[in-house]
Amino acid sequence: MTELRVVDVVEEQLDSVWQVRNRSFGPGGDREEWTKNARTFIADGRMLGVQDGDVLVAAARIWPFEQWWQGRRVPMGGVAGVVVAPEYRGRGVGSLLMRGVLRRCAEKGYPLTGLYPATTVLYRRLGYEFAGSRYRFSFQAADLRTLGGSGTAVRKAGPADADRFLELASKAHETRRSSGPLIWPRSEIVSWLEDEDNFAYLADDGFVVYNWSDGDLAVDELIAGSEETARALWATVGSGASIARTVHAYCAPFDPIHLLAEHEADGDARTVRWMLRLIDAPAALAARGFPENVVLEADLRIDDPELPTNTGDWHLSIANGSARLTASEPSPDALRLGARGLAALYAGTPLAALRGAGLATGADVLDPALDAVFGSPAPYMLDYF
Ligand SMILES: CC(C)(COP(=O)(O)OP(=O)(O)OC[C@H]1O[C@@H](n2cnc3c(N)ncnc32)[C@H](O)[C@@H]1OP(=O)(O)O)[C@@H](O)C(=O)NCCC(=O)NCCS
Repeated sequence: MTELRVVDVVEEQLDSVWQVRNRSFGPGGDREEWTKNARTFIADGRMLGVQDGDVLVAAARIWPFEQWWQGRRVPMGGVAGVVVAPEYRGRGVGSLLMRGVLRRCAEKGYPLTGLYPATTVLYRRLGYEFAGSRYRFSFQAADLRTLGGSGTAVRKAGPADADRFLELASKAHETRRSSGPLIWPRSEIVSWLEDEDNFAYLADDGFVVYNWSDGDLAVDELIAGSEETARALWATVGSGASIARTVHAYCAPFDPIHLLAEHEADGDARTVRWMLRLIDAPAALAARGFPENVVLEADLRIDDPELPTNTGDWHLSIANGSARLTASEPSPDALRLGARGLAALYAGTPLAALRGAGLATGADVLDPALDAVFGSPAPYMLDYF
């Protein structure tokens, strides 16, 4: 083994990445589609690898997402396809690669990074912590069919409606002050709507995209600006009840559908958890939304050995729905956090839980106030990446 180094993957190495990927995630997938997609990551410096001499032994890519945090959009590097060749595992290659990913996220100006972990060990070591879930709920198709909303016009939609879909989703997440959902690059929204396996419908103030899933129906996303539209769009999906008994839906745990549907099929709610990390603490806090009617002044001591620019004594001021983190003098009253504690706090994890896990220490007088400003309805994502 020569000296291992982090590199930008080049097109000629895509065969090697594909092979490591197959050995990591199992065979399958459309290779042509994967290669086309990988080229867009390479072109934008968002695909990194680790080389041993000339041999590529690990790879990862970074999605250029934005993520909603209390109704505001925050740029987020979504890390995916982290793979290390089996013969190189267990000797720090994954960690070396992920340190390169953190540096690249900083260079790209993403204040946040997020990922779905297959193992938490690697990512926790580097400062990621659980921040939210992707929920899949199951409903009886027959219940949805009779939800009504027949007075609402619903029309078939397609790729030409991509901008309208983005606009409606933005409006909904701003109004609801959502935390967690992703904003995908527009080209991905177009491909989603172009895919003939996805069925898209549009109303004046909402849309739905759904598809078949092992004989059931599955809703990728449903946005409705009013009760009538929610009823109409869910009923459109439920109209498949003569063939599909169950409709699975990726949605928030507090989506109005839980209050409208008569029976949620028992015991089939699934969650997959995702992790978050702050790359640039002042920028991440400045970009996030906060409740409008609260004021908070707090001293923080952050220790982040992986990203020393986050390390230091800080003062956090929150007012008028926005936060400012500025360098300050050390304070005996500071709340002390590492990178994991900071990520979990950002996502609204209660201080009692952070202290209970040793992720926050120091003064506790401001705990109720911190819970009030950071706490929000549970962060959720609709998509896996
Ligand atoms: C997960 C993976 C990327 C780790 O790569 P790696 O080069 O072995 O990672 P490192 O050697 O840097 O390990 C860092 C730490 O994570 C731990 N770790 C690595 N894989 C682990 C696993 N599967 N389960 C538990 N801990 C694991 C290591 O033990 C190490 O901790 P230690 O220092 O206490 O021993 C690699 O095993 C892989 O490619 N797996 C298959 C694909 C996959 O699961 N990718 C992750 C998708 S999110």
